Amino acid sequence: MINNIQLYNGDCIEIMQSLIEQNIKVDAVITDPPYNISRKTNFHTLKGANRNGMDFGEWDKNFDVVGWIHTMSKLLKENANVVIFNDWKNLSDIRKECEKNNIIIKRCLVINKTNGAPFNRDRMFVNDVEFALWGIYNSKNKPTGWTFNRKNPVEKCVMNATIQHSKFHPTMKDIKVISKLVDLLTNEGDTVLDCFMGSGTTGIACKQLGRKFIGIEIDNNYFEIAKNRIDNEG
Ligand SMILES: C[S@@+](CC[C@H](N)C(=O)[O-])C[C@H]1O[C@@H](n2cnc3c(N)ncnc32)[C@H](O)[C@@H]1O
Repeated sequence: MINNIQLYNGDCIEIMQSLIEQNIKVDAVITDPPYNISRKTNFHTLKGANRNGMDFGEWDKNFDVVGWIHTMSKLLKENANVVIFNDWKNLSDIRKECEKNNIIIKRCLVINKTNGAPFNRDRMFVNDVEFALWGIYNSKNKPTGWTFNRKNPVEKCVMNATIQHSKFHPTMKDIKVISKLVDLLTNEGDTVLDCFMGSGTTGIACKQLGRKFIGIEIDNNYFEIAKNRIDNEG
């Protein structure tokens, strides 16, 4: 890798295909793809947030939640860590597709959103959790010796996060959680891929922690936002 940070503006399947042709391999994937959950509601999001209720944008509609996994798996080194954020409704399909491609899912991480917005609160539980599947790639289906830089007596699956009412991206992740995952699951100098980079949160965490980063984003506007945020970091 010539640069520590490589950013691509385009469709991740096409770009990952070209990275495969260049024999590039990564130590980890930490990514937050579209969840395919956008819909019309009467609910309005807080002022300043870059979305309307549960409608995050066209990019979240009719998205094939498993269609990219096979190509992504071809970029993984043996025993690479993989974290895929998603909505609970998609977890089973994503797990099956990962396991078809030798990514063995070990745990489901639970992101506890401490400022989850009440919606229809007289009739509904507040929607204050998100999930991430964590797995290890091993071409023989027998992962061994993956990176796990434990920092605490135990690393809990439940992690607190704050929903970001951001002008940059409607579903921007809390960098606290992403940094923790980068720190735990990779070593300094390792390469992390985020093939659905959005506003570049994973890239910022990687730059702060001395990891190399490959980021892919299809939308020109979000790509520029990610590039600026990562360039301005450190
Ligand atoms: C859930 S958002 C990621 C948000 C990101 N975690 C952040 O903190 O800003 C998913 C992103 O994937 C992008 N996307 C959708 N389809 C894509 C594709 N085929 N290739 C690359 N990016 C894609 C969307 O434009 C969107 O910005």
